Amino acid sequence: MNRKTRITLDKDFTIGKIDDKIFSSFVELLGRCVYGGIYEPGHPMADEKGFRLDVLKFTKDLNLTLNRFPGGNFVSSYRWEDGVGPKSKRPKRPELAWQCIEPNQFGTNEMVEWSKLNGSGIIMTVNLGTRGIEQALDLLEYCNFPEGSYYSDLRISHGYKEPHNIKYWCLSNEVDGVWQVGQKTGTEYGRLARETSKAMKLLDNTISTILAGSSSPSQATFPAFDADALDEAYDFVDYLSIHQYLSNRENDTRNYVAKTLSTEAYLKSAIATCDFIKAKHRSKKTMMISFDEFNTWDATMAEDRFKNRWQFAPSLLEQVYNMEDAVVLGSMLIVILKHADRVGIACLSELVNSIAHIRTETGGGCWVLPPYYSYLLFSKYGRGISLLPVIDSPKYDSVQYTDVPFVDAAATIDEGNCLSIFAINRDVDNSIPVEVLLRGFGQYRVKEHIVLESENPKDTNTKENPNNVVPHSNGNAFMDGDVVYAELPRLSWNVIRLEKMK
Ligand code: AHR
Repeated sequence: MNRKTRITLDKDFTIGKIDDKIFSSFVELLGRCVYGGIYEPGHPMADEKGFRLDVLKFTKDLNLTLNRFPGGNFVSSYRWEDGVGPKSKRPKRPELAWQCIEPNQFGTNEMVEWSKLNGSGIIMTVNLGTRGIEQALDLLEYCNFPEGSYYSDLRISHGYKEPHNIKYWCLSNEVDGVWQVGQKTGTEYGRLARETSKAMKLLDNTISTILAGSSSPSQATFPAFDADALDEAYDFVDYLSIHQYLSNRENDTRNYVAKTLSTEAYLKSAIATCDFIKAKHRSKKTMMISFDEFNTWDATMAEDRFKNRWQFAPSLLEQVYNMEDAVVLGSMLIVILKHADRVGIACLSELVNSIAHIRTETGGGCWVLPPYYSYLLFSKYGRGISLLPVIDSPKYDSVQYTDVPFVDAAATIDEGNCLSIFAINRDVDNSIPVEVLLRGFGQYRVKEHIVLESENPKDTNTKENPNNVVPHSNGNAFMDGDVVYAELPRLSWNVIRLEKMK
């Protein structure tokens, strides 16, 4: 078998401008994402507001544009009023989604303050599970109305003179799921979301709203749920949200790394569904996708919430991510870059501890797991224009997928004309030689070939050994004329950075 992969990039063949909002994440009031994660008053590394500065260092480096808040499933029984005002007066509540006690010590204003420190904005999610249009309007008024109304004056009385000016609003979360408090059919939800969005935009016509589509491509109701909801709400919303988590539950690495073929198919189907409703409505508007939960995760872990109910900030969904997860996440990021023309928002789910690559000990240290670096490099170098790569890779069959390319890649060119090639090698046993032909770019040279690899797909980082799996810059990429030559190590995530010669 010819094991070489050929990639062609042409300066004039582009997918589109990459929206900075695809570099976003998700802070849910779940387990130890917030409490014991980004917020832990009294921790030796916490500032006077309780924000952990050791965690902040890792989150800041990701250069996130937005963080979705406060859920997730959490939002569907959330009363936002519980989380504002004097902390001593905030009620404790049994929280239904995660079966925890929610003390409401971290609410809207704490999220705004932490976001400022982190250098990111917020995607606020409103509760359309147990609540409706009125409470969504109240929250919007509290956050964005300048002054002189009940809720804006309440915000000011809480110490926030300036409005928070939150621009992106999710109209609830995963309403298609049986696990959701307030599950609805696509038509029921679409009608409520449409009226909520309409009213919210009457109050603040600068906001964009996100319709909750399917929670997974494996939902039997996908894509009918999305089509039904869009049919009701198409003209009133700006994005369709979709979610996906991939897992190696079967413990079959070859098959696991192929699962991103389903991500590609999922995105294509979601886009096609949007375009079908666009055609049906004779609309001029193109609906963008908000891929506002994606990651690798074994979702069966969610059942753990029933084991020790009604605790404060238990360790929930704290999967220990490893090298193979880093490759699969890298592969998801490649798929997102390849759909940069339609994916306007993308949120890595989540940011700290729960389904996350930043891990803390409550009262103790903080370290990061291998996929953190896949995302860090994507956020650092994946900006600008997404190029259309033509890839000719050898293929393999896995248990669930046929014709799986061993190599997948995306490429970007930034404002400074730096070219970045993001590539994975799915081959668990062998490295693969790659040739990248550059057409029409002028003269370039290799600046750096960054590689994330490891001896064993299960290798990870721990508190004791936090640098076991970290990227290195010893990749062997070089250029000869217009061609980049590189060897992609087995099961690896690569970023080849090229700079223009003067
Ligand atoms: O991220 C954990 C949960 O996964 C979110 O709360 C929910 O939206 C999804 O099912």
